[in-house]
Amino acid sequence: MKRLKDKIRTEGIILNENVLKVDSFINHQMDPKLMKEIGQEFASLFKGEEITKVLTIESSGIAPAIMTGLELEVPVIFARKRKSLTLTHDLYTAEVHSFTKQETNEITVSRKYLDSEDNVLIIDDFLANGQAAIGLAKLVEQAGANVLGIGILIEKSFQPGAEDIRKRGYRLESLARIQSLAGKEVQFAESKEMVNQQ
Ligand code: G4P
Repeated sequence: MKRLKDKIRTEGIILNENVLKVDSFINHQMDPKLMKEIGQEFASLFKGEEITKVLTIESSGIAPAIMTGLELEVPVIFARKRKSLTLTHDLYTAEVHSFTKQETNEITVSRKYLDSEDNVLIIDDFLANGQAAIGLAKLVEQAGANVLGIGILIEKSFQPGAEDIRKRGYRLESLARIQSLAGKEVQFAESKEMVNQQ
């Protein structure tokens, strides 16, 4: 998606060979127009599929997920990483280990909002090791529901998540695929565009 790649080129900050900071438009301050276009892009990519729910994980997945749900006219659920005061039982749960943060979270969704009739589109901002997306797919499968696809804003193709997800048989659609962040340069996967970041 050109607009997302342009934004990464102009505003993304490469912290090191593995981490791209996108705090000015995704992870802290958010760009609503970009999010709206992202929602339209996912809706177009998955048009023709009978999606009944969009599922994401708090917090940075929520904005693109809600825009996608708005376009598809279906409800949006976010899995929680922290225990909720009011949501304490009848939960689907999965363990998600973050290699980046070296922590494990138990993610949860209420059984009320997913059932075996659902066809679910999973949305998240980053795909690194794939643990969040796989954890979300496990929640869907616990409900006996169907994962129709996984939509990612920024895939770091040099990390193992994308391959792992495709090997598991899920349809993966990533709007920007980064091949490398080495040498303080963003190299996108498809077009091999090289951008100097000073
Ligand atoms: P994985 O789910 O693909 O295995 O990813 P990993 O554990 O490596 O990532 C854990 C957190 O770090 C996730 O956010 C993920 O979005 C984020 N992350 C991974 N790689 C990058 C990167 O290159 N840049 C940025 N900015 N974030 C990255 P989270 O802890 O769930 O945070 P949030 O959703 O609450 O913002």
